[in-house]
Amino acid sequence: MTTTQPNPDDFGIRNGITEVIATTRSDSGVPNAAPIGIIRDGDRGSLCVRLFPGSHTRENAIASGEIVANITRDPVQYVESTFGDLDASAFDFPDGMRCPVLKNASAWILFEIERLKGNVFELAPVRGVIRGTKPFAINRGFNAVIESLVHATRYQLTRDSKYLDWIGHYGRIVQVCGGVREKEAIARLKELAGFAGLAEARQ
Ligand SMILES: Cc1cc2nc3c(=O)[nH]c(=O)nc-3n(C[C@H](O)[C@H](O)[C@H](O)COP(=O)(O)O)c2cc1C
Repeated sequence: MTTTQPNPDDFGIRNGITEVIATTRSDSGVPNAAPIGIIRDGDRGSLCVRLFPGSHTRENAIASGEIVANITRDPVQYVESTFGDLDASAFDFPDGMRCPVLKNASAWILFEIERLKGNVFELAPVRGVIRGTKPFAINRGFNAVIESLVHATRYQLTRDSKYLDWIGHYGRIVQVCGGVREKEAIARLKELAGFAGLAEARQ
């Protein structure tokens, strides 16, 4: 289904913070992907993101004025786009779009982005596609991969060892509740994050 004026509700972007993989394009045409949280304040509230300094996503979004939110449940892609680069073959450029999308996203929305203040940017939906209509049932293993990733990014910033304990805690949930792809994601996280201590986060 293609919509010209996408309604965030149809894409599962609800009240609160929705985690997506954002795709952007650099001035020189290089596609980039990284997880971000889309903030929706109230059911009718407008959408915004906080983009912290230092990321390609922020730099590209400011330069191009565009960002795509990809709705995807591939835990390995979350890990690889946080701590590494996705292979060029992961991206697609739909007709007439400068901004890339993820080939395997079950849905995506192109937003125009405008800086409100500081790190806060407003998102205006422009165009969207829903490719898959299969429901996303809850899997604690998938959720635990996302929690581990968030703690790994915090550990990277602060080096506070409490984050290693939490990564260990969520890693145990992945081993019990996750599927093959979630277990692969945790293994990739420890490999890619590549900072001392993370590999020893106790399972
Ligand atoms: C689940 C999750 C949500 C995140 N949300 C945000 C966010 O809302 N804003 C942000 O600036 N960074 C966020 N991050 C951190 C970025 O994804 C991370 O800094 C990434 O390395 C940036 O990559 P890039 O330089 O390719 O853009 C999030 C990370 C994870 C794992």
